[in-house]
Amino acid sequence: MTQPMNAQQQWRPDSWRTRPARQQPHYSDSTRLAEVENALLSYPPLVFAQEARLLHDQLARVAEGRAFLLHGGDCAESFADFAASGIRDTFKVLLQMAVVLTFGGSLPVVKLARLAGQYAKPRSSEVEYNGGQSLPSYRGDIINGREFTAAARRPDPERMITAYHHSAATLNLLRAYAQGGLADLHQVGRWNMSFVAANPLRERYQAMADRIAETLRFMEVMGISPESTPAIRETQLFTSHEALLLNYEQALTRRASHDRLDDPDDQWFDCSAHLIWIGERTRGLDDAHVEFCRGIANPVGVKIGPRITADELIRLVEVLNPHNEPGRLTLITRMGADVLEQKLPVLVQRIQLEGRKVVWACDPMHGNTVTTGGGLKTRDFDAIMREILQFFAVHAAEGSYAGGVHLEMTGEHVTECTGGAYGLSQQDLGACYRSYCDPRLNADQVLELAFLLADTLTAVRPQNAAE
Ligand code: PEP
Ligand code: CO
Repeated sequence: MTQPMNAQQQWRPDSWRTRPARQQPHYSDSTRLAEVENALLSYPPLVFAQEARLLHDQLARVAEGRAFLLHGGDCAESFADFAASGIRDTFKVLLQMAVVLTFGGSLPVVKLARLAGQYAKPRSSEVEYNGGQSLPSYRGDIINGREFTAAARRPDPERMITAYHHSAATLNLLRAYAQGGLADLHQVGRWNMSFVAANPLRERYQAMADRIAETLRFMEVMGISPESTPAIRETQLFTSHEALLLNYEQALTRRASHDRLDDPDDQWFDCSAHLIWIGERTRGLDDAHVEFCRGIANPVGVKIGPRITADELIRLVEVLNPHNEPGRLTLITRMGADVLEQKLPVLVQRIQLEGRKVVWACDPMHGNTVTTGGGLKTRDFDAIMREILQFFAVHAAEGSYAGGVHLEMTGEHVTECTGGAYGLSQQDLGACYRSYCDPRLNADQVLELAFLLADTLTAVRPQNAAE
């Protein structure tokens, strides 16, 4: 077998520039672009190398079947919707879901948000048509604007600086929420945001909150308090985004010694997020995105769709995780309900055969997008759930560990995905459709999915746990 080009070449933060880079903007002002890159290079890192290593360790536990990965958040964050309430609601709903899974599934949950940097979007078409006019497609707020005007659609390097500051402020709030009491398990009963009050699952959620409260009281009697066990009051939430805009990612790449002077390995980290992933459209083996990600020491993810072959997958795994470290690589399948059960087994078998240590996560969103007659993109709750159940079934049949889920979701009351306990129909979508990109599960649908997932985790636990 010939070696992929990238495995032979010396890696540097800029070696991706020698490779074909897909889905990149064409900046007309190269002087301004260089100034922005230099400015970002001098800015403080958004996350620290040690934190990325911590996530790596936690993902290693997932790879070994001892924890579950909950990865979720916006399809695309936007500068216009930048407000504490949105960040808080997404944080709460992720935590609520994690509590349901931890309690229901009896295993630790690694919480990873698509937040604080999810600003760049791959597009299936270079241009968009409207009323006889064509303009460059919207590629996410870090690149250009959504309005359908030539000025807004021109890629502007300055937007990288705005994205950096928005990410910094989002991270600041997330860190405060995680450590400042919002994640206190004593509050679980009070997390009942208004949506829970009218939710058909309310009683189930309340019963679980009561059981947690009772357990906490018992623990306190036994001398286990928030003072002795910070996990009762605090949580760890990691951040992630698609590493699409490589100028930005390179400019935030630092040596580990940047924040720890005596670092023994002094590896390179992309300090824009704890985990970054490569999308389905940019995972070409000899392409720029794989070249960039192979050299950084963060845990990385890669999306894999139904067209990937087992040979292609194994070469990708060899390049991205040459030392076969558990926790380094997460394979995020996004196949589509019904397609997954035909396509996934051969991939899982090959990974098993070659003894590759990976986290398998299921993105049940991107293979199940449909467009309504009215032109809105949507996804159906049942299709999403079906893909998740098939994912668990395939892994159980192959003796492999179904390690996590990857969801596009929000804590807000949007109407973007159909189905769920409230039976949202396509006619209901117009009521509150706010996504700039793909349709997200709303807070009710997320909670419902969490309970169904917890039931699945409990049912498959004997095979699923590799203990
Ligand atoms: C995404 O996660 O928003 C995305 C574009 O996914 P994919 O690369 O799987 O299409
Ligand atoms: Co999306």
